[in-house]
Amino acid sequence: MMTSLDGKILSHGWGSDPRVEKLVGKFEEAHEKIGIRAWIVGRTTMEMNFTDYEKPIFSSNKEKLDRSDFVARTDAEAFAIGIDGHGKLGWKSGEMQEDHVITILTEGVEDAYLHHLREVGVSYIFAGKESVDLVVALEKLKSLFGIGKLMLEGGGRINGSFLNEGLIDEYHQLVLPLVDGRKDTATVFEIEEGEMKADSFLFKLKEFKQIEDGVMWLTYEVG
Ligand SMILES: NC(=O)c1ccc[n+]([C@@H]2O[C@H](COP(=O)([O-])OP(=O)(O)OC[C@H]3O[C@@H](n4cnc5c(N)ncnc54)[C@H](OP(=O)(O)O)[C@@H]3O)[C@@H](O)[C@H]2O)c1
Repeated sequence: MMTSLDGKILSHGWGSDPRVEKLVGKFEEAHEKIGIRAWIVGRTTMEMNFTDYEKPIFSSNKEKLDRSDFVARTDAEAFAIGIDGHGKLGWKSGEMQEDHVITILTEGVEDAYLHHLREVGVSYIFAGKESVDLVVALEKLKSLFGIGKLMLEGGGRINGSFLNEGLIDEYHQLVLPLVDGRKDTATVFEIEEGEMKADSFLFKLKEFKQIEDGVMWLTYEVG
């Protein structure tokens, strides 16, 4: 994750000064350097940064479908995975920036939505009836696609859920030399009040280094 000095993550509010844009570009550079072949994000991050708020698309096929997982391909070089329990993302293709798309759904999504995903070659797996069970999702990513290592890339809510479930083993944070300053913008880990499974979560510092343009790259072991 990439944060301001005050731990905020909503980079689109940081303006278009070329120096800021250069700093924000460090996220993609770190993504490439870490180089895990499968990355996963929450529905909001996917639609803001990748599907451009495309509305869900429905097929005209009216045939009933059971809730079996659909594996369009397993031989991709890389996988782009969205956690979209209610089928709100609009996919036009099964490939995004050359990565194969897998979407994680719950059982309530409409058949016509599933037919469309099949038609365009998006893989989907079911993890839960009404809300996404992250453990089931990860088990299926492993058993169906051979994905044993994932790079979780936000946003704050999905990060919070993974952390709360004890599903993060390593944490990388790029600290940019800028301050967001807004009182209500999101931070790296956001967990609903009353749902926290611990009073706090302890991390262990593994490495810190200064990279270009005054950015700090912190690496922690979790738990
Ligand atoms: N600075 C950085 O490094 C960085 C990186 C990534 C993203 N971001 C920013 O983060 C912002 C989005 O963050 P966000 O926290 O609002 O959204 P998010 O974590 O990307 O997505 C949250 C959504 O994921 C779905 N979801 C399904 N199961 C979930 C679960 N168990 N726990 C949590 N969510 C679950 C829900 O969608 P439904 O509501 O449809 O059920 C939920 O609303 C964007 O502005 C993005 O640009 C920043």
